[in-house]
Amino acid sequence: MPVSAPGVQAAAVYPLPNAQRAGHDPPMADPLPDDWLAAFFDRLVAVGPNVLDAGCGPGMDAATLARKGFAVTAFDRKKSVAGKWLPPVDHLLADVRALPFRPATFDTAIASLSLHYLPWDETLAAFAGVGATVRPGGLFLFRVNASDDVHHGAGQGEEVEPGFFQVPTALVRHAETKRFFTEAAVRAVIPAQFSVLHLVHRTIRRYQHPKQVWECLLTRDA
Ligand SMILES: C[S@@+](CC[C@H](N)C(=O)[O-])C[C@H]1O[C@@H](n2cnc3c(N)ncnc32)[C@H](O)[C@@H]1O
Repeated sequence: MPVSAPGVQAAAVYPLPNAQRAGHDPPMADPLPDDWLAAFFDRLVAVGPNVLDAGCGPGMDAATLARKGFAVTAFDRKKSVAGKWLPPVDHLLADVRALPFRPATFDTAIASLSLHYLPWDETLAAFAGVGATVRPGGLFLFRVNASDDVHHGAGQGEEVEPGFFQVPTALVRHAETKRFFTEAAVRAVIPAQFSVLHLVHRTIRRYQHPKQVWECLLTRDA
């Protein structure tokens, strides 16, 4: 019996849409450049240079931070364009469910759209695991799918857990399951010892169609 994310209704099965007619991004669309990190640079500089990028994908954020002078360690469970980034980024192949880092290693951990593919128990463990890599006084900055992200799979396919969907294959890019967070669900994954500095719902424009996300900045209690 899966543990439920709070703030969402009981599991249900939704009709499968015609992905194109419904106005969805094709699964292999490459993201557009996205300057979401710019608003956080000053805070990141203030806490220190060592940054972890969890689920870095092709590494746009890692490269942006490295260009700004941060010492970036980036990992993803899939191979990416490691080695092509300038300036260099320390890149690993790793899964967020088995992190290879010592606790309290980084001043900041970021996770952009990478911690919303797992069942609820693994989601809690993933947030706790990434959080544990942050030193006391450091930052954890993440963004995840919001529950109204209808152009990117929200409410479509089989809801295998509350808020967690087996997304129709026409919409799939990184996984066949996607979690869509209510604000209550975001608050529920915040690891112990962290306080919220910023939690905002945003519409972002990095794909063909608008995407709804929660953007969250946490600080680890000193
Ligand atoms: C939507 S992409 C985001 C990539 C990048 N963070 C960005 O914002 O451009 C999601 C990434 O999360 C990675 N990912 C998903 N589940 C993961 C896991 N369990 N461990 C590590 N990476 C994971 C995927 O391989 C993919 O590269």
